[in-house]
Amino acid sequence: MPDSAQEETVQKLATLDPIWAQTRDQAEEMAAREPMLASFLHATVLNHEKLEGVLSYHLSHKIGTNDLTPMSIRQLIDEAFADDPAIGEAVRADMAAVYDRDPACRTYVQVLLYFKGFHALQTYRVAHWLWKKGREGMALFFQSLCSEKFGVDIHPAARIGRGIMIDHATGVVIGETAVVDDDVSLLHGVTLGGTGKEHEDRHPKVRRGVLIGAGAKVLGNIEIGESARIASGSVVLKPVPARCTVAGVPAKTVACEDCDLPARTMNQIIESDAPGFLGDGI
Ligand SMILES: CC(C)(COP(=O)(O)OP(=O)(O)OC[C@H]1O[C@@H](n2cnc3c(N)ncnc32)[C@H](O)[C@@H]1OP(=O)(O)O)[C@@H](O)C(=O)NCCC(=O)NCCS
Repeated sequence: MPDSAQEETVQKLATLDPIWAQTRDQAEEMAAREPMLASFLHATVLNHEKLEGVLSYHLSHKIGTNDLTPMSIRQLIDEAFADDPAIGEAVRADMAAVYDRDPACRTYVQVLLYFKGFHALQTYRVAHWLWKKGREGMALFFQSLCSEKFGVDIHPAARIGRGIMIDHATGVVIGETAVVDDDVSLLHGVTLGGTGKEHEDRHPKVRRGVLIGAGAKVLGNIEIGESARIASGSVVLKPVPARCTVAGVPAKTVACEDCDLPARTMNQIIESDAPGFLGDGI
């Protein structure tokens, strides 16, 4: 391709799919800086035309087994992307969420290649697509692969929005009837589980912008209101009002109206002059 035509293609890609365009640039730069990774970066990122192709290649190699080969898994992931373009949109929103919120994340390519919370979430997205298609056996197989490979157990029937960050991810459990709205951030060791006392609809409903700290257990069919925060290590058994922060075992409200979309800003500070601040009364 002549240089001008190549330049035009690059410009078009940057406008149409900026995250994919930047990911490619970052992979090229990484390959130039670290030649020992060049063949891996070409096979995984640079040889593909679309972000979706990268993900189906990379995920299938990560979770493939003797029972279900990477090639078969890749076919299923490609089928899901082709059938439901909203999955590809959610992938980009999740990449942007990690890049914007995780101070340790410097590039999109890092999210795509190395962040297992992101890998687990995308495996769930395909499992959820399979579940909705009535392919429950295959959906549950994907769930078990995700749990084995990434240490993240998400039931394929759970409903999870876009712009989600699952940071570090090890030990995250999300139950069958849980709902997680858009723009939520979860740290490792979070459980959205049942109490064991409820049946049918028995898992938490987490509204937009919520931030849930490492190791927090949120149990039962309770609502965690928009922009709420749950401190690490808490056991939450009661609904949490919007924009409030809860902490402790069992969790109690420690502040209210103190933060807007904390999952996005990753605001982990309680101002002592915030309305509703309860001092050290945990
Ligand atoms: C303990 C449990 C079995 C509930 O037992 P229960 O006797 O019905 O308890 P209740 O919900 O009526 O709560 C009784 C008291 O114990 C407290 N409590 C309940 N579970 C608690 C927990 N895990 N940690 C600390 N305190 C807890 C409640 O706050 C309540 O305190 P209060 O009387 O001062 O308000 C249940 O909460 C639990 O932890 N189940 C295990 C769930 C789990 O591991 N789920 C993961 C699924 S993936």
